[in-house]
Amino acid sequence: MAEPSLAVRRKSRPVSTRKRGRAPVQPSAVCSPVGSNDSEEDMFGDPDSFYGNSSFLAQVNDIEQKYLQDKNADIKAAGEIVLGNLQSGIHQKKDNFSTSENMVVFKADKEEGFQMNENDPVDSNQELTVSILDDLPSSQLLYFEEVNELSSDSRLSSISEIRNKFVSSSSVKIRSPSSSCPDAEHGNRPTDFSSDSKCDLLKAESLKDHLKSAMTGNAKAQTLQVSKTKQLKEAVLSEEICVARKAIESSSADIGPFYGLPSKVKDLFRQFRGIETLYEWQHACLMLESLQQRKNLIYSLPTSGGKTLVAEIIILQELLCRQKDVLMILPYVAIVQEKIRGLSSFGVELDFLVEEYAGSKGRFPPLKRRKKKSLYIATIEKGHALVNSLIETERMDDLGLVVVDELHMLGEGSRGATLEITLAKILYTSKNTQIIGMSATLNNVGDLQKFLQAEYYTNNFRPVELKEYIKIRDTIYAVDSKTENGFTFSRLLNFKYSSNLEKADPDHIIALVTEVIPEYSCLIFCPTKKNSENVASMVCKYLKKLHREKEKQDLIQNLKNIGNGSICPVLKQTIPFGIAYHHSGLTNDERKSIEEAYSTGVLCLLACTATLAAGVNLPARRVILRAPYVANDFLKKSQYKQMIGRAGRAGIDSAGESILIVQEKDKHLVQDLVNSPLENCYSSLLVELTKGIQSLLLSLVGLKIAVTHEEMDSFMCSTLLGVQQQLLSNEKSLSEITKDGIENLIEKGLLKERTSAKDHDSKRTLTITLLGKATYKGAIDLAYCNLLYRELKKGLEGLVLESNLHLLYLATPYDMTFNCSPDWMVYLRQFNQLSAAEQKVVDIVGVPESFITKKASGQAIRKNVDSAVVNRLYLSFVLYALLRETNIWSVSEKFNMSRGYVQNLLNSAASFASCVLHFCEELEEFWVYKALLTELTKQLTYCVKTELIPLMEVAGVLEARAKQLYNAGYKTLAHLANANPETLVKTVEHLSRRQANQIVSSAKVTKALVGICDPSTDLY
Ligand SMILES: Nc1ncnc2c1ncn2[C@@H]1O[C@H](COP(=O)(O)OP(=O)(O)OP(=O)(O)O)[C@@H](O)[C@H]1O
Ligand SMILES: [Mg+2]
Repeated sequence: MAEPSLAVRRKSRPVSTRKRGRAPVQPSAVCSPVGSNDSEEDMFGDPDSFYGNSSFLAQVNDIEQKYLQDKNADIKAAGEIVLGNLQSGIHQKKDNFSTSENMVVFKADKEEGFQMNENDPVDSNQELTVSILDDLPSSQLLYFEEVNELSSDSRLSSISEIRNKFVSSSSVKIRSPSSSCPDAEHGNRPTDFSSDSKCDLLKAESLKDHLKSAMTGNAKAQTLQVSKTKQLKEAVLSEEICVARKAIESSSADIGPFYGLPSKVKDLFRQFRGIETLYEWQHACLMLESLQQRKNLIYSLPTSGGKTLVAEIIILQELLCRQKDVLMILPYVAIVQEKIRGLSSFGVELDFLVEEYAGSKGRFPPLKRRKKKSLYIATIEKGHALVNSLIETERMDDLGLVVVDELHMLGEGSRGATLEITLAKILYTSKNTQIIGMSATLNNVGDLQKFLQAEYYTNNFRPVELKEYIKIRDTIYAVDSKTENGFTFSRLLNFKYSSNLEKADPDHIIALVTEVIPEYSCLIFCPTKKNSENVASMVCKYLKKLHREKEKQDLIQNLKNIGNGSICPVLKQTIPFGIAYHHSGLTNDERKSIEEAYSTGVLCLLACTATLAAGVNLPARRVILRAPYVANDFLKKSQYKQMIGRAGRAGIDSAGESILIVQEKDKHLVQDLVNSPLENCYSSLLVELTKGIQSLLLSLVGLKIAVTHEEMDSFMCSTLLGVQQQLLSNEKSLSEITKDGIENLIEKGLLKERTSAKDHDSKRTLTITLLGKATYKGAIDLAYCNLLYRELKKGLEGLVLESNLHLLYLATPYDMTFNCSPDWMVYLRQFNQLSAAEQKVVDIVGVPESFITKKASGQAIRKNVDSAVVNRLYLSFVLYALLRETNIWSVSEKFNMSRGYVQNLLNSAASFASCVLHFCEELEEFWVYKALLTELTKQLTYCVKTELIPLMEVAGVLEARAKQLYNAGYKTLAHLANANPETLVKTVEHLSRRQANQIVSSAKVTKALVGICDPSTDLY
């Protein structure tokens, strides 16, 4: 791909126009200006040094002068000259030309304008070039080579071209909105990153300045041990950062040729993502006037439309150009970890920090960095806690941008309520924080726009066409919204079934599957976990063992290692046929191994549940929906869209289709499903009373955002609920609901109301009680805060510390007790294995021994025992076993629970333990819990052998991988951060080069963070 080399934007501001108010930041030695000879030694010494070599600089000056003369001639020939400013997006006319602005955009024809013709005579400059290159320090030669490599035109050889390339390394390009904003129907033509000759803008620094600054830096930098490529890349980046700094000083957010970013960013997208060009919609969206003005934006495109890339470019603009922190909110822990892995390498290359806020990870408030900016990648819950902590410490100004993926989550229960609360607080407290939301499944955008005060961009573009079908009996119909009933006949399914097979597979899933596998991949969404296992087993019985047997055996071995020698019998049976199931019953390690094997084609079919539906990039030529149900509920349109959207992912598949298997009885429901619009997204604040409106009102007082009834009302009007007020029942207005909520909080002892007589008309002000503060700080569900307080208080009177059982009980999440049904024999066995002191815990928390024994022997029980307590204690037995055995497999067998459930319990307990810790931190009487809970949170977070903990700090390194790395000799974070990815690939089994690179990058980021945590080493 060619670097822009057609137009030049001059950018040599007179010194007087630069801001001098604050000391210029020096991000790297390369930016030091020549002449400001600081105390550092010239590392190169005489032979390789240009420092102070005025004759060399003079030569450069001469060449530059000559170049400018030549160029002026070229420009005249090329014609039109316009002025431009990328960030304002304004293209001024020629009349407005003013040299004092120093930004000239040459709208030049590619061939005629600036590119050298290969028939051009070699002029005397060429000789000069050679002699200059002879004189250059070796590091500088490398820089030239790099610049040369970046150019696609290998014919370029004259000095003016070298100069041109030099200039282009700091150039800026823009497309005029009028010439390039595509209509929706033009949306699927890719837009080249760099070759739009009509409206390119380029800027140039003085060549001499460039050389001076770059070479000064090179002279100071230690280059001998650094690899050539790395050195080259650093030189280019430093050069661009140097320009960037100057741009920042001049209050422009434009620091480079790629949407205001250094061209290195473009290279990184190519290198790490294989993305060569932006889609036209992506370009159009990035060039939106509203984005340039930093307005809030919602954008919506079909699944696989490439939404992430746009968000990532905007994020990088914020981090690098505007030098502000960014928060990215994603729906699930696994997706947060995936994103951390994907963006860590960008962080390492572009010098920003990537911090994980998921599960029990995350620091509140985040550490204030002196130099580096942070990208916080968070789940909805942790994103909320982070925003609270920034509001509390009056640091919202640091947060320049918040990006929300899967914005439709706003309508989804308690998580939706938390997301709404977070966004409402950001909107209310920080006018300078921009909000960007994206989704593939939005309907009532108007409400969301009003709530977020946002502009809206949408496009129907999907890079890979997705064909939708339904199957009724053996007829396949194409979904066609233009027809009356929504379907048109497509074909008959042609497959010969024996009577046995017909019985085993009445829905002819095997016929559908074998049309695509093993050449292509296929996903089957099933309504339940059990069903997905059954489908995987059933399909494999009628298939032959196919290719890549060795890799499949390796996968089985890998899964055995993960399970400490055990493997799920279903997986053992199905994997040799290239098939597996995928649902929340798998451990994280298993899930990751299976996803990787599927991505690389070792597995070609996954029978999965809806857990695989959101935002996942896996290959699937065909997605089959086993039935239009999720558990017992009929599919929602958005669920349907998300599931089928996994087929035909860009860059992975060249085509995609979905087939929904429908029984005759459901035909009409399915017709409604495919023809109806997406569901509306409604505020969940009221539905989720304690996690919704009450929790919001409490934290508004806690954070002093709103402390009077009037302020509360005003805040509530700015929520999504406020926007959708008309949907409330006629019984109560929003203001009355708010009033009720406040009264309820006062009753619970979380808020107090006092009347201040200062004002003439006495005002009632709300204050938060200590318990209230602890509750919102710990993000404790208001339904449990009083209970938690009582239990902790009781613990103070007699906490049994012989083991951590009692403490574990206190950290067992309340909300997991509902769907727990103890196996009474297991309960009794576990009870009998406890020491006398531990048995006392059982008594203290309120479960009599007689209750357990009677339950186990099936006797009737007259006594009234709180089932929530009984269940909670049972779950704490599970956690207790986990901490002792550190083996999810043996514990799940012992308690007859799925290993995925056990792991989920562990993760939730880790998270809740950290919540209880924050709760206790606010209440002096609970000081003693602080040390205990800090340690317990750590144990629960890394429920593995202690030696693996440092490696598991690295995002995405789960237990199995940590063990492998440890055994391969990478025993500390530093080892891993300094590892050579190539060596890792060779020494660690089943590790691809891509994964190795990601692990090392993540380790570097984590190591930087750990270093920063020590205030004495906060040099970032
Ligand atoms: N300009 C591009 N050129 C090539 N591939 C691209 C481009 N933009 C994005 N992609 C690729 O397209 C795939 C899907 O993109 P992405 O994950 O952003 O989709 P999405 O719009 O977020 O979909 P979903 O709503 O399903 O999450 C990714 O593999 C991504 O790397
Ligand atoms: Mg996405």
